[in-house]
Amino acid sequence: MQIGIPRESLAGETRVAATPKSVAQLIKLGYTVAVEKGAGAHASYPDEQYAQAGAEVVDAAAAWGADIVTKINPPTDAEIKLTKAGAILISLIAAPRSPELLDKLAKQGLTVLAMDSVPRISRAQSLDVISSMANIGGYRAVVEAAHEFGSFFTGQVTAAGKVPPARVFVSGAGVAGLSAIGTARALGAIVRATDIRAEVAEQVESMGAEFVAVQAEAQKSADGYAQEASEDYAAAAAKMYAEQVKDADIVITTALIPGKPAPRLLTEEMVASMKPGSVIVDMAAGTGGNVAGSKPDELVVTANGVKIVGYTDLPGRLPTQASQLYATNIVNLMKLLTPEKDGQVVFDWEDVVQRGMAVVTDGEITWPPPKVAVSAAPLTPTPPPPAPPKEEKKPRDPRITYTVAGICAAALLALFWVSPVGLLSHFMVFMLSVVVGYYVIGNVSHSLHTPLMSVTNAISGIIIVGSLVGLTQSQTASGTSIPIVILAVAGILLASINVFGGFTVTQRMLKMFKKG
Ligand code: NAI
Repeated sequence: MQIGIPRESLAGETRVAATPKSVAQLIKLGYTVAVEKGAGAHASYPDEQYAQAGAEVVDAAAAWGADIVTKINPPTDAEIKLTKAGAILISLIAAPRSPELLDKLAKQGLTVLAMDSVPRISRAQSLDVISSMANIGGYRAVVEAAHEFGSFFTGQVTAAGKVPPARVFVSGAGVAGLSAIGTARALGAIVRATDIRAEVAEQVESMGAEFVAVQAEAQKSADGYAQEASEDYAAAAAKMYAEQVKDADIVITTALIPGKPAPRLLTEEMVASMKPGSVIVDMAAGTGGNVAGSKPDELVVTANGVKIVGYTDLPGRLPTQASQLYATNIVNLMKLLTPEKDGQVVFDWEDVVQRGMAVVTDGEITWPPPKVAVSAAPLTPTPPPPAPPKEEKKPRDPRITYTVAGICAAALLALFWVSPVGLLSHFMVFMLSVVVGYYVIGNVSHSLHTPLMSVTNAISGIIIVGSLVGLTQSQTASGTSIPIVILAVAGILLASINVFGGFTVTQRMLKMFKKG
């Protein structure tokens, strides 16, 4: 079968559904590939590279006339007419919002797989373009914010003074939100984030951000998706947003409830409370907006100098990367549809992934698909087994403690009494080093304790020096003192094992952190 890759006709679209690399992968699966002339021009993939990868570079009619057409945006009426009856179309469709488009595709006798209807289950992750694009979108949201923001993201200490790090607040910790958190952290900002689903707190924290919980009963999602907030939750959330955003330099909102308009999170008053020069990126601007005053595809500057970015083409602003991820998602889909790797599509409508994506099948509308049961976390967690009854610990008799302490103190005094005068000063030095060591080591991260201790082994090099000095004094008037020689040699041997062993352990630990 032949796969056609047409040029995207939507104004402003920069992406393409195949890259030279993905073309080679499709050919390996047994297909022939026809790419429309100039299809990858905006994404920095020239025609020559497609030809080198084995594709035929053709005109629009030939690309649309293929057995399988893969593209990004839903086709226009004129484009639908270019497809042949019985062909397979793979593209974004926005099925819930496009009943008329589904009608037209069905009338053309097509089978249509919607890339935006991939069920969000682990097995389908490799085809999930919504996640791929949201990941890029979250990254680009931070880049756009950094572009509009007038200061550094990372804190700096310069000769001209100290610069504090930017404070970033992210609302919604789904795919786009987590990507934004990671990017802002990588740029050195202090990041805080919130989400209506309490279970994402751990993910937020694992990315180095602080999770800000709303002081109300949070949602426990049964299917991994958020539901609309209760009135109590919304009121408590509004209080939290009012406190958080007035301190933030950058706010990135990504809150989404599937199938619903974007929840409104930031009111005009909250935006007005922000400092001039602060930046808000409302990633949901295209679906109603999380922020009052955001406009799709516009940069709005409020009366108090806050910039609200509402771009809806964030993935398209990284066209090379976005095309590559989209194309990889298509290749993964084609692998699923080509079990024999012989260039022939074999559908399996029992497979929830294929069935979920099929919005039109052989000229019949097959949307919506039957619901797929997905589970993220059990709604009511199984209660832990009852803890065994604790044994009552009897408090120790204080008289015993005082007696033991008294005996120790008396023994110490007796020791000082009989020992040479210098011992007291050595003992004081020892006690002080215990205190200093406790505070110094206590402030070193636990993961660094082993390399730290193995390096400090080198301190026992002083024993080697002492033993060498001892050796030079082993010659007494009555000849060589054998005990001194034995002690000095043993000292040198044992201390050397300590020093070199320490460095070997450090070396091995450092190797664990080296890439490759
Ligand atoms: P997602 O479903 O993975 O994440 C959305 C998150 O919002 C979920 O974690 C959900 O629990 C949370 N949420 C829902 N209601 C909330 C509330 N009231 N308060 C706090 N959190 C709430 O969605 P994904 O893929 O991360 O996309 C996020 C948004 O970004 C969507 O609106 C999507 O359309 C948009 N987007 C925009 C792009 C652009 O170019 N502007 C590009 C890609 C995605």
